[in-house]
Amino acid sequence: MKRHAISELLDATLVGQNVTVCGWVRTFRNNQFLSVNDGSSLENLQLVIDREGTDEVLLKRLTTGAAIRAKGTLVESQGSGQATEVDVKVIEVLGDADPEVYPIQMKRHTMEFLREKAHLRFRTSTFNAVFRLRHGLQYAIHEYFDQAGFYMLHTPIITGSDAEGAGEMFQVTTLDLNQVPKNEEGQVDHGADFFGKPSNLTVSGQLEAELGAMALGKVYTFGPTFRAENSNTSRHLAEFWMIEPEVAFNDLTDNMDLAEDCLRFVLTKVLERFPSELEFLAKRESDTEKQLPADQRNEMGLIERLRFVTENPCVRITYTEAIDLLRNSKPFKKNKFKYPVEWGIDLQSEHERWLVEKKFKQPVILTDYPAEIKAFYMRSNDDGKTVAAMDVLVPGIGELIGGSQREERLDVLKEKCAAFDIPEDHVWWYMDTRRFGTAPHAGFGLGFERLVMFATGMTNIRDVIPFPRTPQNAEF
Ligand code: 4AD
Ligand code: MG
Repeated sequence: MKRHAISELLDATLVGQNVTVCGWVRTFRNNQFLSVNDGSSLENLQLVIDREGTDEVLLKRLTTGAAIRAKGTLVESQGSGQATEVDVKVIEVLGDADPEVYPIQMKRHTMEFLREKAHLRFRTSTFNAVFRLRHGLQYAIHEYFDQAGFYMLHTPIITGSDAEGAGEMFQVTTLDLNQVPKNEEGQVDHGADFFGKPSNLTVSGQLEAELGAMALGKVYTFGPTFRAENSNTSRHLAEFWMIEPEVAFNDLTDNMDLAEDCLRFVLTKVLERFPSELEFLAKRESDTEKQLPADQRNEMGLIERLRFVTENPCVRITYTEAIDLLRNSKPFKKNKFKYPVEWGIDLQSEHERWLVEKKFKQPVILTDYPAEIKAFYMRSNDDGKTVAAMDVLVPGIGELIGGSQREERLDVLKEKCAAFDIPEDHVWWYMDTRRFGTAPHAGFGLGFERLVMFATGMTNIRDVIPFPRTPQNAEF
């Protein structure tokens, strides 16, 4: 079907020409002004209908959500609010949307309502903007790593290993769950399963990315990851996308530099490429925040926040310094934190938020966490207590990136496996890279949906992925 994209018709370049437009009706005013969107732009195109010359039955079918095709002349708009409009000569309805039942009307719907209608929510301006930005971010990420000399590796989605050691895995099996074969000890006979051993959906592509980095030098994965953690929060999904660069010969400082450089690059790209989407989302955020108490509003607007990250380095402090700051904080002294603060604890979201939102008011990189609370593969520091870990925390979201320098010393890694109860023969291939030409290396995982949250100002992770998977919810 030959047609013009609405994005081509919004400025005056094609004025005077005959054009064909397809799209979905947003609004229809006075039986004359039809506002149409085809996804090529956040903005709608105004079509001016000849209400006397058009069949009345047809006019009634021009309702919100209907799909149409129109032919006419592109003219400079008489009204304010748009540069151009189409003087329609012929219009046809390709698909009706009965207003009695079509759920997406031109009023403000709640995000909860739209989540239940996730198959139709793309048709709202908010989700139009969010998903254009999501696309732009993923494109910029590939661009960043490509220009920085990285190779993208597709790491497996089905794996036998639990990279993070948290046991939060979805099992993959073709066994009949009603008739599971058992061995002599009464345990599941995984030999009879598809892969002949237990397997699961990956929680991270890191371990395999490390293998690639040990020859290709700089690699990254960008794939789906799965976590069966039963946490129903606004920042957790059971299925999310993660970007994991891994670089041979990098240490923790190089790793932090890479993370900051990557963030700066992708945010700069979307600031350049999606100004109207960002303005729209910034306005949406400030409108939404008007209903919140002053202390829950963002101090900076969305665009200001993004600029701030592109223009300023992150604060870098150690975990130990962070614990000291927290223990000297007002909320700690006034017993306002729900969870205890002492050296050795895993920081809770309330602690991270205090650090980035109250203390520093900007992104912070925390390093050198206690070994006990981090994964087995992180490099042990000389103090014997901490590991060369880094978490990038950002306002409004908390942890955006988690990474580390990796343990490259075979003997230390063997001790770590023992301490974490990881049978060496399960990760023999990982150990082999320490046996043959081992080298210092480092990498991190950037949670893609958390990045989209940060870049769009959306406050629930379910609203930045087309079809969220969360506990008790895998609709669509
Ligand atoms: O900190 P995590 O668990 O680190 C890893 O998986 C490492 N293997 C990464 C590496 O070093 N290559 O996860 C990394 C990031 C987090 O910082 C967070 O942004 C995101 O992934 N993330 C989640 N995002 C959405 N839902 C969840 N359930 C997430 N869990 C982690
Ligand atoms: Mg983490």
